[in-house]
Amino acid sequence: MMRLFSLVYLACAIPEAAAFSMKIIDSHLHVWASKSEAESNFPYDQPPPESLQNNATPEALIEQMDKAGVDGALIVQPINHKYDHSYVANAIKKYPHKFKGMLLHDPELSPVMAVKRLEELVLSGYVGVRFNPYLWNEGELMSADSGGGLAVYKRCAELGCPVGVMCFKGLELHYDDILALIEKSPDTQLVLDHLGFCALNEKGDEAFKQLLALSKYPNVSVKVSALFRNTGSVDSFPYDKVKAQRFQPLLEAFGSKRLMVGSDFPYVLETEGGYDGAINTVKSWLNKDDAEAVLFGTAERLFGKWGALE
Ligand SMILES: *[C@@H]1O[C@H](CO)[C@@H](O)[C@H](O)[C@H]1NC(C)=O
Repeated sequence: MMRLFSLVYLACAIPEAAAFSMKIIDSHLHVWASKSEAESNFPYDQPPPESLQNNATPEALIEQMDKAGVDGALIVQPINHKYDHSYVANAIKKYPHKFKGMLLHDPELSPVMAVKRLEELVLSGYVGVRFNPYLWNEGELMSADSGGGLAVYKRCAELGCPVGVMCFKGLELHYDDILALIEKSPDTQLVLDHLGFCALNEKGDEAFKQLLALSKYPNVSVKVSALFRNTGSVDSFPYDKVKAQRFQPLLEAFGSKRLMVGSDFPYVLETEGGYDGAINTVKSWLNKDDAEAVLFGTAERLFGKWGALE
């Protein structure tokens, strides 16, 4: 009786779209060693922010995921451990039904070595590659014919391994480079992080047009993640303006089958709404069909299924 009452209450109190329960895969977050783990086994390449240093272990993450009803996650290799993938690989090994990983490409490697390393990490549970354009030397391109980036990008098409690009300083800076990648290897699945990092301002609006233009390439997808990084200081939780000016046009252009939710844990912990607020905000924007894609379907199409092996 009590249970029935609370279900009815829930159905009335929250938007209709949020009143269903569904598998949820968080397509974008990080874990890193706590201070003591860093001192013993997993040294930092660069220390994480002090306020979050001890809040980004796999166990701290699972606590948040459980509270928010999130079933699985794609762990993106954090810059704090740079190219040392042992901490994330350990997390995947410990919780294989919950975690998959996206490795960080090292632009210093020769094409042969870069592809070899990709293949090794794929064997230890990695299912995607992150390109951070700021790790390339000034003036060098991800799509350069002679570079390891293009060799890895092409090999990823054969391995079924999507490549995520982080355009922290603005999509427009990397747009031509991204187009070149797509044209040189159209079968590679390309994922743009964090709504393309197009802040709600004039510069962001221009970049956002470029992001929408990429929708004509069927193998390009976008993470609906880190909403808090896209506010341009004119929006805040629960991100109504990001919804209207970024999410809805993206949904129209790309369709839900090329969008996927992500939190950007642990950074999201320091924002209003926290982890479950971020997940539930995106959930509240979706009807049931779109939710099936954005909450887990797109991530599983690109990265494989999460859950117990059958
Ligand atoms: C997208 O990639 C798939 C393989 O992942 C390929 O079969 C298809 O041709 C690609 N689409 C385009 C338009 O290049």
